[in-house]
Amino acid sequence: MFQMPLPPAYRQMSEEETDRRIGEAKAALGSDLVILGHHYQRDEIIKFADFRGDSFKLSQLAAGRKDARYIVFCGVHFMAESADILSADCQKVILPNMSAGCSMADMANIHQVRACWDYLAGEIGPGIVPITYMNSTANLKDFCGRNGGAVCTSSNAPSILKWAFAQGDRVLFFPDQHLGRNTGYKMGIPLEEMVVWDPHYPDGGASPESLRQARILLWKGHCSVHQRFAVEQIEKARAERPGVHILVHPECSFDVVRASDFDGSTEYIIKKIEEAPAGSSWGVGTEINLVNRLAKEYTDKEVSCLDPTICPCSTMYRIHPSYLLWALEKLRKGEVVNQVQVPADIAAGALIALNRMLAIH
Ligand code: 13P
Ligand code: SF4
Repeated sequence: MFQMPLPPAYRQMSEEETDRRIGEAKAALGSDLVILGHHYQRDEIIKFADFRGDSFKLSQLAAGRKDARYIVFCGVHFMAESADILSADCQKVILPNMSAGCSMADMANIHQVRACWDYLAGEIGPGIVPITYMNSTANLKDFCGRNGGAVCTSSNAPSILKWAFAQGDRVLFFPDQHLGRNTGYKMGIPLEEMVVWDPHYPDGGASPESLRQARILLWKGHCSVHQRFAVEQIEKARAERPGVHILVHPECSFDVVRASDFDGSTEYIIKKIEEAPAGSSWGVGTEINLVNRLAKEYTDKEVSCLDPTICPCSTMYRIHPSYLLWALEKLRKGEVVNQVQVPADIAAGALIALNRMLAIH
């Protein structure tokens, strides 16, 4: 995704002026504008969000806010694409920085998925249901919609997998192997019945027998932020902080999720800490902007990241206030920049898959 360089005036502007002008642009645009912010956004952005959420909640909001002409999406590209598909045709979705992608979403493309699908059809036959994690490009959502599948998020993956097994005997789950494995295991599917499909090999790097035995075919993709969490960090936290509760995102590896006390979406993580008693201690395995915000907001609880050296999600971080201001000031002049627009032929199938996601929770 190409992002044109910001005009120097925006790059050189002080924080105070940037903030003041964002406030002015928001006020001037009034009810024409809604700003949605994912929980991983930095504080300097999240303070301007009209609504915050995990990917499921933000999709619901995008589908429900038919009044705003402009939805400025402070998150990453696949989320803005989904907002475009779910919003009304007359609404425009804007991503302040087009280079805010997701490395996990880049780990599966439509050519690879089609090749895998055709191979599996030849080796296994019918009865496979394709499920894509929200963190994927719109054409993969379209593929699922057209082939009897659905989209899931980290907050409804168990219900979507249950639904999928009512439609067929096997699931092809992409692109996050960890969410697929963690969810499948919780549903009682043994590890031997979940086989990794490596898209770099024409046969997925798996024997035909193992593919035939599998109930879930797990695409070999992962999140580089969440794969940094390790069981040793959990052991260290437990040794140093007696009584600590370990709370992680299900994009973490199987071993980490098994070793934790709780796992769930970003919205779940927030709720869990919000509802925890004062004085409780939490070691959290997710993106650092969210963990730091929780630590600041809930000073009566001890909240810290399991990995002290963890870096933020570098693509979420690309939504900087200067880009937000630039996009808003353009809108004030009636100019739409960075519109995320999914072509109609792709949006059609993707909408089927996304509507299934919204309906099954
Ligand atoms: P949530 O749906 O839990 O917000 O997760 C989105 C995401 O990208 C996590 O890495
Ligand atoms: Fe993608 Fe991971 Fe960033 Fe989520 S945290 S947007 S999965 S790279």
